[in-house]
Amino acid sequence: MKQTIARTTALLASCTLLITACGGNTGTSTSTNNNGTDTATTTSTTAKSGPIPIGIAFAQTSNVALLGQEGVAGAKIAEKYFNDKGGVNGTPIKLVFQDAGGDEAGAINAFQTLINKDKVVGIVGPTLSQQAFSADPVAERAKVPVIGASTTAKGVPEIGDYIARVSAPVFVVAPNSVKAALKQNPKIKKVAVFYAQNDAFNKSETEIFQKTVKDQGLEVVTVQKFQTTDTDFQAQATNALNLKPDLIIISGLAADGGNLVRQLRELGYKGAIIGGNGLNTSNVLSVCKALCDGVMIAQAYSPEHPGEINATFRKAYVEQYKKEPPQFSAQAFTAVQVYVDALKALDQKTKVNTLPVAKLRTELNKQILAGKYNTPLGDISFSPEGEIVQKDFYVAQIKMEKDGSTGKFAFIK
Ligand code: ALA
Repeated sequence: MKQTIARTTALLASCTLLITACGGNTGTSTSTNNNGTDTATTTSTTAKSGPIPIGIAFAQTSNVALLGQEGVAGAKIAEKYFNDKGGVNGTPIKLVFQDAGGDEAGAINAFQTLINKDKVVGIVGPTLSQQAFSADPVAERAKVPVIGASTTAKGVPEIGDYIARVSAPVFVVAPNSVKAALKQNPKIKKVAVFYAQNDAFNKSETEIFQKTVKDQGLEVVTVQKFQTTDTDFQAQATNALNLKPDLIIISGLAADGGNLVRQLRELGYKGAIIGGNGLNTSNVLSVCKALCDGVMIAQAYSPEHPGEINATFRKAYVEQYKKEPPQFSAQAFTAVQVYVDALKALDQKTKVNTLPVAKLRTELNKQILAGKYNTPLGDISFSPEGEIVQKDFYVAQIKMEKDGSTGKFAFIK
């Protein structure tokens, strides 16, 4: 066993990033670099041998795909945008997609495949913080950079040195929606809080919501728990409505959260509703339909953000999907951009296609954390732990059309 590991390690160490012999590429190049010094041959071989692989591990199946598919869309727009601009100083990138599904096992499998088979330089994902707490340690142990693009629970960047994120955390984003709801209706006093207790992000988000409610001098009249897999919320909704709240705050994911909104309205609730980050997708519109109208959700991205890169991203998204880009797409675009910008900066110091993949991953991780990036989210950088440093946040409110099935996120702040 030990010998097998040692041999594998030696083999990996001998693989420069784009050498076809290590990558499953069908190209004919046989010019492998066994000692890292044969740069002349390797450079010319690798420059022709293929693009730089970046792994994308979002949920493409399960209910979590309601969020994950928006990440996929943003990443694909980024791949085309940056390759059209010359990729990494002339070498294109190639996104390698592995479906992380909706649970921990799916995310771990996707990460392992991307790391060991696809030999990616780094990973974007997974979709849920719940998945990140299991899958990110796999990348950390393999010394492979991870950039979260929708994971917002407290503690994600702290999973390890190789873990960063461009998805601003719950404690920065969530309070904005409570303040916006109070601005709209300063008479709000009694708040009912709901959260999905089987999900790390929702547990983290509800803590922030409950703290914000108390800090604002409001009363939490009840805390109701559910599961992200639930579809029937009659018991919890009735319990809460009996206490006559004038604000309801929901931390759930898109399908459960949308159903809860629908059932609260069907039971006659007329007050304000705040949805958390797990409901931040137009995919909830098909769940709660006309009854989604008025739900407020804090945003870490605005399609109106000024600057060339956001304008180009927005145009590409609108052309393809006929609606404004959502936050999860903008964050996925940004995560891919961070890789490209960091690879470019690194490449200027040491040609990246001369580096063994293990060394490249380590150097890339350092560069990611050191860089500053002008992105669709605005100017961003990272704390030493890998937490995003971002300036601008917003709140949107769902406005449904008269047809009761189409609608949009109208920005109110
Ligand atoms: N923001 C959600 C999470 O972190 C999707 O799980």
